[in-house]
Amino acid sequence: MKILHVGATGHVGEPVGAALRERGHDVVSAHRSSADRPVDITDPESVRALYDTVGPGLDAVVVTAGTTPYAPWDEIGREQLLAGLTSKFLGQVELVRQGVGFVREGGSFTLTSGILGREPVRTGSVAAAVNGALEGWVPATAGELWGRFRVNVVSTTVLTESRAAYSSVMPGYPAVDGSEVGLAYVRSVESMDSGRVYVL
Ligand SMILES: NC(=O)c1ccc[n+]([C@@H]2O[C@H](COP(=O)([O-])OP(=O)(O)OC[C@H]3O[C@@H](n4cnc5c(N)ncnc54)[C@H](OP(=O)(O)O)[C@@H]3O)[C@@H](O)[C@H]2O)c1
Repeated sequence: MKILHVGATGHVGEPVGAALRERGHDVVSAHRSSADRPVDITDPESVRALYDTVGPGLDAVVVTAGTTPYAPWDEIGREQLLAGLTSKFLGQVELVRQGVGFVREGGSFTLTSGILGREPVRTGSVAAAVNGALEGWVPATAGELWGRFRVNVVSTTVLTESRAAYSSVMPGYPAVDGSEVGLAYVRSVESMDSGRVYVL
């Protein structure tokens, strides 16, 4: 399959891209600072430019990009909430909204949320809100796109590879290896699933 992978260079993106390539897929990588296919998912025009560059006929779009600010609750204002929603929620939603014009019918979209919507941590209220929004939006959208496009979201705990970076925010949390996480994206791309929230 020809797969557009946005966020290919991250802690999640690296093992996901490796897992997809291992399955023999033609993975077209994009990320914010890419020399070949730069994209800023917070900007709908940048998303449009990426799709125009890659062209129609995609079988799947996989997104492992999107950021949320971390800060104590009383330091979170509209600005921080909007930043998280604009990047991780609306950025991924925009890749689906525009992507339906570039993905063949029957193709799929796989998005990324995370554990913090169901297991709250200090400083993680924006991430919790955004992950919850994604995990509500995906099943609802999958229902409306039923029979035309599939949409799933992967909601993972911290990756083993990221444990050190998140140790102060998620002390003692169980971790999962990136290779396992990669398989969830493979399942989403290759199965007939839609509207699923894959919890790892
Ligand atoms: N790491 C974990 O353990 C973990 C666990 C659960 C969920 N998640 C979620 O998974 C997602 C990725 O996390 P990560 O740890 O892999 O992050 P990361 O290592 O910082 O990588 C993020 C990736 O997304 C790209 N990116 C970031 N903002 C972008 C934008 N506005 N437009 C286009 N590309 C953008 C980055 O490209 P550049 O490098 O070029 O900026 C990079 O390829 C996040 O939403 C995170 O909440 C992560």
